[in-house]
Amino acid sequence: MIISLMLFGRITLTYKTASPISPRNKLFKNMQGGSLPAATLSSYNDDKEANKMKIGTVKELKNHEYRVGLTPDNVMAYVKKGHRVFIQAGAGEMASFTDDEYRLHGAEILPTAVDVYASCDMIVKVKEPVAEEYQYLRPELILFTYLHLAPNPALADALLSSGTKAVAYETIEGRSQSLPCLRPMSEIAGRLSIQEGAKYLERPFGGRGILLGGVPGVERGKVVIIGGGITGTYAAKAAVGMGAQVTLLDISLSRLVYLDDIFGASITTLYSSETNIARSLAEADLVVGAVLIPGATTPLLIRKEHLKIMKQGAVIVDIAIDQGGCCETSKETTHDNPVFLVDGIVHYCVGNMPGAVPRTSTVALANTTLPYGLMIADMGLEKACELNEGLEKGVNIFQGKCVNKNVAESLGLEFTPPNELMQYKMRCASAI
Ligand SMILES: NC(=O)c1ccc[n+]([C@@H]2O[C@H](COP(=O)([O-])OP(=O)(O)OC[C@H]3O[C@@H](n4cnc5c(N)ncnc54)[C@H](O)[C@@H]3O)[C@@H](O)[C@H]2O)c1
Repeated sequence: MIISLMLFGRITLTYKTASPISPRNKLFKNMQGGSLPAATLSSYNDDKEANKMKIGTVKELKNHEYRVGLTPDNVMAYVKKGHRVFIQAGAGEMASFTDDEYRLHGAEILPTAVDVYASCDMIVKVKEPVAEEYQYLRPELILFTYLHLAPNPALADALLSSGTKAVAYETIEGRSQSLPCLRPMSEIAGRLSIQEGAKYLERPFGGRGILLGGVPGVERGKVVIIGGGITGTYAAKAAVGMGAQVTLLDISLSRLVYLDDIFGASITTLYSSETNIARSLAEADLVVGAVLIPGATTPLLIRKEHLKIMKQGAVIVDIAIDQGGCCETSKETTHDNPVFLVDGIVHYCVGNMPGAVPRTSTVALANTTLPYGLMIADMGLEKACELNEGLEKGVNIFQGKCVNKNVAESLGLEFTPPNELMQYKMRCASAI
């Protein structure tokens, strides 16, 4: 009976039953697909006045961070639903979005970050707040951004003591435990790894003077990609597109089967054994480190002694540097000074590669975060989390408690299950 009512769009309070097509599951299913579940969202708002929220974004302060949390299109999406959007003057400038564009799409421009934080219920950012932004955190503020709290106890303390509700892009989960808000940055870093690698292979940049695609009558450059996940696949696409010879190594046989199916004869796939890695390194002009073991430090697959068997002037782009790097001689660099030489091998180890292409990165990121941002704005964070388990996984800190198990374990904090805390809040709210 309940099921047939739901099929005809009648949403009632019975959704709290554990039906396999309960509204929570239904909405979660839609969100995992990455599309905006507008019809579903509006049906939830049928029986009550939709929430009206004030949403804002500020200029990023992290070194060489040129992305911005909201695009003009995002602004329009929020405004169309009755929310107000505030943008700090110049926030989108480095991603080539002008204040006028934001205004035309319905935003209100405020002169400083102080004004934006003070005016908004939810701040949508890109990177975690830096120390000078901690002063803006306050109870009930929703902070929606990348947080990477595990290595940042100072920020965790600031969030806990402020009472802010902090939602981290990187822990929001999609279908099959995918991380939908992390994926676009991996796609970008993968493509960039070949673009940057090709540049540093040029002699004036310290490389061995190889054009990856070659020319008729001249051998093409050899690209070796270790790790065939998201970054590795996008690196392979870019390298194949440039006309390079590509070898891709992974330890997951199912992944290798998949890659063999989609790339066919345009790449060589190899199981990532010590022997295959050493043989491939010896022949490589450009090596891309794209390995990840979720939650763990990256395994050191390229050791110092390997550099001796590599060609002088070859380039290693260690994308996995943000997790420690897969090359023993890697150390994190910045866009200011991205490369260094060890034993004649050029190392490129920028921990924030997508920051170099802020326009593309901003739009790609905004495409994935917008559906979640709209859910939060339309329903409030607690209700949105109740209806979407994937979003609930994104909440790291909630009103003075750490509600993400992995983050709590990494930082040695007490873990409080988010559903308990949020259901309690909701019961209070409905009682009022
Ligand atoms: N530097 C940057 O700016 C930047 C940007 C985005 C992502 N990243 C990083 O790039 C890394 C890869 O991310 P991803 O999204 O591609 O991860 P992913 O999980 O999609 O892929 C990782 C792949 O590594 C493979 N792997 C694990 N152990 C291996 C081994 N011993 N040999 C070969 N392959 C192995 C896995 O099977 C998997 O296919 C991560 O550390 C991520 O944080 C860095």
